[in-house]
Amino acid sequence: MKVLVTGGLGFIGSHTVVELQQKGYDVLVVDNLSNSTPAVLEGIESITGQKPYFEKLDLRYKDAVQKIFELHPDIEGVIHFAASKAVGESVEKPLLYYENNISSLIYLLKELTNRNINNFIFSSSCTVYGEPDDLPVTEQAPIKPALSPYGNTKQIGEEIINDTVNAYAGFKAIALRYFNPIGAHPSGEIGELPRGIPQNLVPFVTQTAAGIRKELSVFGNDYPTPDGTAIRDYIHVVDLAQAHIIALERLFNNKQKSNFEVFNIGTGQGSSVMEIIKTFEKVTGVPLNYKIVDRRPGDVVAVWADTQLATNELGWQAKLGLEDALRDAWQWQQNLVSK
Ligand code: UD1
Repeated sequence: MKVLVTGGLGFIGSHTVVELQQKGYDVLVVDNLSNSTPAVLEGIESITGQKPYFEKLDLRYKDAVQKIFELHPDIEGVIHFAASKAVGESVEKPLLYYENNISSLIYLLKELTNRNINNFIFSSSCTVYGEPDDLPVTEQAPIKPALSPYGNTKQIGEEIINDTVNAYAGFKAIALRYFNPIGAHPSGEIGELPRGIPQNLVPFVTQTAAGIRKELSVFGNDYPTPDGTAIRDYIHVVDLAQAHIIALERLFNNKQKSNFEVFNIGTGQGSSVMEIIKTFEKVTGVPLNYKIVDRRPGDVVAVWADTQLATNELGWQAKLGLEDALRDAWQWQQNLVSK
């Protein structure tokens, strides 16, 4: 069976391609290389022994989206990662974010519904919960007004998909709301490749440990949390990748309970920024240079997942822990430096 993975050379996409290939799927990767490189194809091949089909195309162009399905009429399912994800950049360039994350989604859904390709997995985010009222956060928690255009694109994306499944009989979708994906493939062959200065915590940690950055800024230690630093649910990217295959197979096998389902994908454990630093130092033996600075505007205090629904319905739960993720992220960083 052929599966289309948009954004398949990105961080989560590339790990998902590996898991798909290892389960025997034929994979078509579409990526515009805006935040990835063709070398990721080699990383994938070195793990699985196979290169996926690859088309360099930009989903913001309707014709390009059509072309994918003309070239590959045998696609049976789609995992849609292609999107921009920098919160700060989205505030500066909202239209770029709406075009990248929403126009592309619409063109893709039009093509899928026209062609009766009925199995669709969407990358959503815990950002839809904003600052949750109750922890751990369940899928029933209210959607809070988005704090950034990026966050808004995930909320709007879910709404568009919901309207689409209601209007097109047979079309079905699952949105996975990711918590904080970190780590890298344990082979060290693929991982996160941030362009420029990393915005996310773990790439900044590994680059600081590697001497690429002078010091890590810890954004605030006066939060109402046990050590004063903000809390997130950090999930190993390989666990996250596997959740996509399980979700897709739920659709392939018509096991869904409704035509649009939403699942939290996290570990169920919250970790503070200081815990990340301490765990990183413990597993790698490398001391981290860091300083406490002001809070980052727009950051929530604490969020971690209630994972009951994913466990009960998908039979999925995270198998890897924070130590595995930080060790793998560090191995990947060291491989990058030596390449
Ligand atoms: C954010 C988004 C999330 C999005 C993700 C993608 C929100 C609330 N969350 O996650 O939806 O999917 O980006 O990129 O908008 N930190 C530091 N120093 C740093 C970097 C981060 O202390 O140099 C802290 C942050 O304040 C935060 C934690 O580390 O408490 C995690 O930050 P980050 O990795 O950027 O992820 P989120 O902001 O949680």
